[in-house]
Amino acid sequence: MEKTIEQIKEEAIKELEYASDPESIKAISVRYLGRKGAVTRYLRNVSNLPKEIRPKAGKKANETKKTLETLFKKTLKQLEAAADEADRRLDVSLPGRLVPQGSLHPITQITHQISNIFIRLGFDVAEGPEVETDYYNFEALNIPKNHPARDMQDTFYISKNIVLRTHTSPTQPRIMEKQKPPVRIISPGKVYRCDSDLTHTPMFHQVEGLLVDENVSFGDLKGILTTFVHQMFDPETSLRFRPSFFPFTEPSAEVDIRCVICKGDGCRVCSKTGWLEVLGSGMVHPAVFENVGYDTTRYSGFAFGMGVERIAMLKYGIDDIRKYFQNDLRFLRQF
Ligand code: DAH
Repeated sequence: MEKTIEQIKEEAIKELEYASDPESIKAISVRYLGRKGAVTRYLRNVSNLPKEIRPKAGKKANETKKTLETLFKKTLKQLEAAADEADRRLDVSLPGRLVPQGSLHPITQITHQISNIFIRLGFDVAEGPEVETDYYNFEALNIPKNHPARDMQDTFYISKNIVLRTHTSPTQPRIMEKQKPPVRIISPGKVYRCDSDLTHTPMFHQVEGLLVDENVSFGDLKGILTTFVHQMFDPETSLRFRPSFFPFTEPSAEVDIRCVICKGDGCRVCSKTGWLEVLGSGMVHPAVFENVGYDTTRYSGFAFGMGVERIAMLKYGIDDIRKYFQNDLRFLRQF
């Protein structure tokens, strides 16, 4: 059976809906309104229809032709405008848009710098758990229960004998239990304390160091740490070793460097002293060796620990430690 003009119109409209470029509209237009197009053929056929319906059918066919003509024109215009717009947007002569790129957090960068200095000096990197037993965090390091030294490192208890480690020092006994001397490791990582102010955050980072062998002396400790400071800061930086106390080292020393800001004249950063404390260190206490089964008559060693945030603050001249962890991109993008 011949298609009705209604059917032809519907098909044309449906085809039009799928057309996505000016060329296909033109093709559809030819298929329906061209010399051999469906509408044109229908119109030519009207004269063969029965007399009674001829005028009505002719009128309808003419209307359909007009409707489709308008519709094709309108759609063509829309598609051409869209193509024009796309052309204008795609200007291949413009410089490309940069894909946003992340970067390493300043604390991660400084941790890498510190680690690389020690790696070049022959140290291996060892990591320990952040959730630590009371034994490794305190006891094995010669800090018995109720020892006043525990006060300096008040911490978060998971349970009676499990803590968030307060320092990276527990890696020392953990490594020594597993490995015979010589031992030469550093251990970077997160540590936790109940502290929060301008220079303390409850979570911060440390890098621990441990070297054990035969005939290790305080001179070796001085040599390694001096080399470290000179590479980390400035080869001209002077250091001083100040007597101190840590339960796991004897003798113990804190290491100060000449203030990087005022070069020793005295300023706000160094509290007018001209010196900045950068790390704790000392010769490993025999009690620690005994706890891991090392022969104290044969082996000696030194250990040290430093706060990464503090080193980074001194290197970059940052006055508030909390800035590291506020995720303010205006701050972080500077590194
Ligand atoms: N663990 C100490 C602290 O967090 C730092 C320290 C001092 C580490 C002396 C050492 C050391 O290995 O020998 O305050």
